[in-house]
Amino acid sequence: MVKIVTIVGARPQFIKAAPVSRALRQNHTEILVHTGQHYDEAMSAVFFAELDLPQPDVNLGVGSGPHGAQTAAMLAGIEQVLLVEKPEWVLVYGDTNSTLAGALAAAKLHIPVAHVEAGLRSFNRAMPEEINRVLTDHVSDLLFCPSQTATDHLAAEGITQGVHLVGDVMSDALAFAATRARTRSDVLQRLKLTEKGFLLATVHRAENTDDPARLLAIIDAFAALDEVIVFPIHPRTRARIEALNLNSEIPNLRSIEPVGYLDMVQLEEAARMILTDSGGIQKEAYWLGTPCVTLRDETEWVETVQTGWNVLAGAETARIVTAVRDFVTPITQPALYGDRQTTARIIKILCGMEQDS
Ligand code: UD1
Ligand code: UDP
Repeated sequence: MVKIVTIVGARPQFIKAAPVSRALRQNHTEILVHTGQHYDEAMSAVFFAELDLPQPDVNLGVGSGPHGAQTAAMLAGIEQVLLVEKPEWVLVYGDTNSTLAGALAAAKLHIPVAHVEAGLRSFNRAMPEEINRVLTDHVSDLLFCPSQTATDHLAAEGITQGVHLVGDVMSDALAFAATRARTRSDVLQRLKLTEKGFLLATVHRAENTDDPARLLAIIDAFAALDEVIVFPIHPRTRARIEALNLNSEIPNLRSIEPVGYLDMVQLEEAARMILTDSGGIQKEAYWLGTPCVTLRDETEWVETVQTGWNVLAGAETARIVTAVRDFVTPITQPALYGDRQTTARIIKILCGMEQDS
């Protein structure tokens, strides 16, 4: 039996951790630490309930704040937990401040770190996520990569030990949720939406929300598209729209609160197209066969672009509108990022490699 401390804190991490935590707990001991980075009911608790993710054993309640203060508070809190629990591994996901804090706290205490979603790169160091990914990968002992591209990026940085191409744990999470959503989500009826009769949009990336010109250009593109757009608004984006007094009262725009994962999967599957700057949603769009326009200048998920299912449109109004109107759905959809066996592979590697303490 292996003892693992898992660190989560932000919405996509609850989704990624759910299949692994459920499986880990069958034969091993997991202490689930929630940093408190996301705390609204719709950004946190809903995912625990819907995905059978065990309740956090510890909630550090760190909350929002500038990068340094937020990451520092997490680091101090996680260190205390690790000193008490003395786990054999610390497991971190993705590229948020919670990821970096978990990895750094563990590495400083000489506790081995396992990083799920290792090797992703945008090569844009202005993104907070890029800093978090690079640093986390460089202190990790086990690096679970979703794609060959990711393993190649690690090799280019000299990281070859402990690297495993396991696929993407989000495909396991999506498979679980898609089955549940069919019987438990009534979002299409609730919002009076028809299959393929709407677009789905999300925006939360710092580069888009913190630059008023980019945010305005994206909202202008939404207004220029003469289709219903369902827009579950991330709290960060809502705050910016309000602070800038931007007019988001656009007739075709259905602005709603963030939705739970089961509703989200239903919306993604039924949408004619998705417009997003999210990392996870680009992949979900691909797996569900929904065309995607990405509101960024680059992506870590390059394969979705190479296969023709995802178009990069940046934050330019005309480019976004053209990308939506002129999208040609590819004929083929090769398998990308795993085969829904990623969770099993991670557990086998992680728990077959316990360290003597
Ligand atoms: C974080 C991650 C980002 C990830 C995203 C997933 C970092 C640096 N960024 O971005 O990589 O893609 O989560 O959604 O870790 N807020 C609330 N309620 C909440 C959470 C946030 O109101 O429950 C608001 C606060 O005003 C806060 C702002 O959103 O200041 C930003 O939250 P924060 O966690 O710092 O970053 P995200 O933009 O959510
Ligand atoms: N998501 C959700 N409800 C929403 C918006 C997103 O359940 O209202 C899910 C989405 O399906 C994906 C994950 O949250 O699984 C992505 O999180 P986010 O876009 O916040 O972060 P990123 O993936 O960009 O780090």
